[in-house]
Amino acid sequence: MEDAGLPQASEPLSIPELSIPEPLTEFSTTTIDDIPEAVRESAETESKPWRTQKLLWWGVGGVGTIALVSIPLIFFFQAQSSTSSAPSNSKTASIERSASPVAPAISEPYELNDPQRSPPGEEALSSKDPALLGHFPYEEAPLEELMPIAPDGSITLRRTAAEKFLAMLEAAKADGVIITPLSGFRSVAEQEQVFFEVKAERGQNTTQRAEVSAPPGYSEHHTGYAIDVGDGYFPDTNLQPSFERTRTFQWLQQNAAFYSFEMSFPQGNAQGVNYEPWHWRYVGDRTSLETFYRAKNLNPQEEFAPSPGS
Ligand code: DAL
Ligand code: ZN
Repeated sequence: MEDAGLPQASEPLSIPELSIPEPLTEFSTTTIDDIPEAVRESAETESKPWRTQKLLWWGVGGVGTIALVSIPLIFFFQAQSSTSSAPSNSKTASIERSASPVAPAISEPYELNDPQRSPPGEEALSSKDPALLGHFPYEEAPLEELMPIAPDGSITLRRTAAEKFLAMLEAAKADGVIITPLSGFRSVAEQEQVFFEVKAERGQNTTQRAEVSAPPGYSEHHTGYAIDVGDGYFPDTNLQPSFERTRTFQWLQQNAAFYSFEMSFPQGNAQGVNYEPWHWRYVGDRTSLETFYRAKNLNPQEEFAPSPGS
């Protein structure tokens, strides 16, 4: 490290009042030659007048001193500043945690970022219960899987259900019972008509209508596994509770399970749907079973009453 008070120039300085020491020519030359090019420029600076150089070194020293003193002070004040802001954040956090007393407009406190709970007013959007008015959502059966079960082809079921239903029809016939298919697969659009138009025609409110018919998108008929049936000898009982007094209903109660059909809406069913002794569904393969029982499990507090004949 060079001494700031000693000039290092190899040439005599021109300031007369200063006593110039003997130039160390040999040392200086050697030193300059050994110094990299970039530093060699400062050697030229040393050729400036001594006073200027002295002022320069004092300036550098002064700036350095100021920096040495001020940097710790800056850190000190920064630390003070963050310390003083901490209580403010803590206060905010405690207000957020105890939202109820600070924000009386919110009647029930809730934890922010708690996935189990939604802020007030959002419950309806994040409801875990997908049922609507007691009915579960069902997808439409693929059209290519539908098969006619009526001679005119107007009523269809999904193939596996259709085959079992026709076998059941034949067995009942052999017993002198005429099962009449009334309605099988229904699209969501068809159910829309059934639900809203009939509701309007009968002047029913939504809840009343849902007791006797599923909203569009929520009918078991969308699945292609459900069917409404009547008694060929007593068509007046079609879609009426009195259907339960027909021989067809009695035969179904005793035999439908052999063909993997069960009554969907027995009396007092937990879904709150009206008693429908005419509405039966197929649960004889994995897809149909999962279709209905997975829907049921979506609302685990509900217990279905056991179906007659199953
Ligand atoms: N008829 C019953 C309610 C349904 O469509 O699912
Ligand atoms: Zn039905």
